[in-house]
Amino acid sequence: MSEFVLEMKDITKQFPGVLAVNKAQLNLRPGEVHCLVGENGAGKSTLMKILSGAQPADSGEILIDGKPVHITSPHHAQQLGIAMIYQEFNLSPFLNVAENIFLGREPRLGPTPFINWTKMYADAQAILDRIRVKLDVRKPVNECSVAQQQMVEIAKALSSNSKIIVMDEPSATLTDHELEALFELIRGLRREGIGMIYISHRLEEIFGLGDRVTVMRDGNYVGTYPVAEVTREDLIRMMVGRELKDEFPKDIVARGPERLRVEGLTRDGVFEDVSFAVHEGEIVGLTGLVGAGRTEVARAIFGADAITGGQIFLSGKPITVKSPKDAIRQGIGLLTEDRKNQGLVLGMTVCENTTLANLKSLVRFVFVDHRRERTVTEQYVKELQIKTPSVEQTAQNLSGGNQQKVVLAKWLFTQSKVLIFDEPTRGIDVGAKVEIYKLMNDLMRRGVSILMISSELPEVLGMCDRVLVMHEGRLAGELSRAEATQEGILRLATGEKPAHVG
Ligand SMILES: Nc1ncnc2c1ncn2[C@@H]1O[C@H](COP(=O)(O)OP(=O)(O)OP(=O)(O)O)[C@@H](O)[C@H]1O
Ligand SMILES: [Mg+2]
Repeated sequence: MSEFVLEMKDITKQFPGVLAVNKAQLNLRPGEVHCLVGENGAGKSTLMKILSGAQPADSGEILIDGKPVHITSPHHAQQLGIAMIYQEFNLSPFLNVAENIFLGREPRLGPTPFINWTKMYADAQAILDRIRVKLDVRKPVNECSVAQQQMVEIAKALSSNSKIIVMDEPSATLTDHELEALFELIRGLRREGIGMIYISHRLEEIFGLGDRVTVMRDGNYVGTYPVAEVTREDLIRMMVGRELKDEFPKDIVARGPERLRVEGLTRDGVFEDVSFAVHEGEIVGLTGLVGAGRTEVARAIFGADAITGGQIFLSGKPITVKSPKDAIRQGIGLLTEDRKNQGLVLGMTVCENTTLANLKSLVRFVFVDHRRERTVTEQYVKELQIKTPSVEQTAQNLSGGNQQKVVLAKWLFTQSKVLIFDEPTRGIDVGAKVEIYKLMNDLMRRGVSILMISSELPEVLGMCDRVLVMHEGRLAGELSRAEATQEGILRLATGEKPAHVG
């Protein structure tokens, strides 16, 4: 018997113009949480796609329980006991929880082709009980929350007797509370002897959860270490290849006149009576628990959802924003949290995506000036360190974090006066985060007003001039940079009344 349930040796994968994975190594023990970290585009997802049969490797060797295997398809990987939980779930929205868990493997009534529904629901229930998830097995998946869908994916993995479960950035879309539930579940699976590979850019998760960690850089294998023997700084240095002196390089500039103001902004049943202002040269944070209404307020200001009350002002003048197009025309931009659905056209190139929202600025006579389009995009690729072989690469082929940077480039190019960033650094590696913060500083110096929605409190505390906190659809309070602390924000976000008010 091998010590390892899985060994990946010298795995190499070349895409046109990109050596995505170069002689990568990874081994996994039963009952181990093995974290995989590295910058955006380091090759983490590609290595895992090779393991799950979604993509063939060019060379290298994979052993399961010490025996060499040649994984030919996702179905084959599943038979070998490998389950992959992608960020974009693979569930059928109109089927219910139990049907999804057993999709394609439904228990039959004896030798007949008929599904044994009683057994299927009972088995589904047993799996959910085993992982202590309270969820109705008859609930259609499209009525489940993101966290519940993730639990269904995990239940599905267990139902097919997986010994190896891969989770690629599972935490990116979960609330803190849901995250704690996922961690509990992972610890339970560890006790059952299941080996897990866990990818995340949130280093605190590595230290809270991981047994060992493997670092990749530019497709190369850097090393594997017991989590207890490395520090946060060690990991950053190995990932980025240099020391990161300041994770939050905040510039303070003199606050200019008022730019954006909302008064009594209301959308019935969603948020109510929200009033605040953002000045020129200011970064204002909008925080709160997920579901507090932050994204909804941003969408309303951007004209994506209608308001039922209140008024928006731009430089003191009342404005009406009927649609996102309208907002862009008036100089308001919104970088959405959901880059795949709202921010990016995956089938278009990096270049086309970058200039999409402001193509008119590139038109000479009636033609788009493609040379300038390229030059502009190349400039952003350089500034934002977007990892792509060329600006003609299809957005689909970029790594998750690099796709996010393209969305950012697109909004920078619109030359908006007000930029609303919704979770701008989610899925972005530590090194690139610093570059994005520096870019925010530049924007601020050029007089752009930034409203940043973020759930990452260190980022809010590190980068914002003021912090607005929402709780259940209302503004619970405002803190200056000097006043703001993690505890203070949490107190407002959870609706706890400040002690001194009486
Ligand atoms: N299908 C593809 N065609 C061309 N290039 C690809 C393809 N898939 C990935 N790449 C490239 O391979 C490299 C590694 O990408 P990968 O998605 O594995 O990175 P990652 O480590 O998961 O990054 P992130 O943290 O941003 O998710 C990137 O440069 C990416 O652009
Ligand atoms: Mg990835």
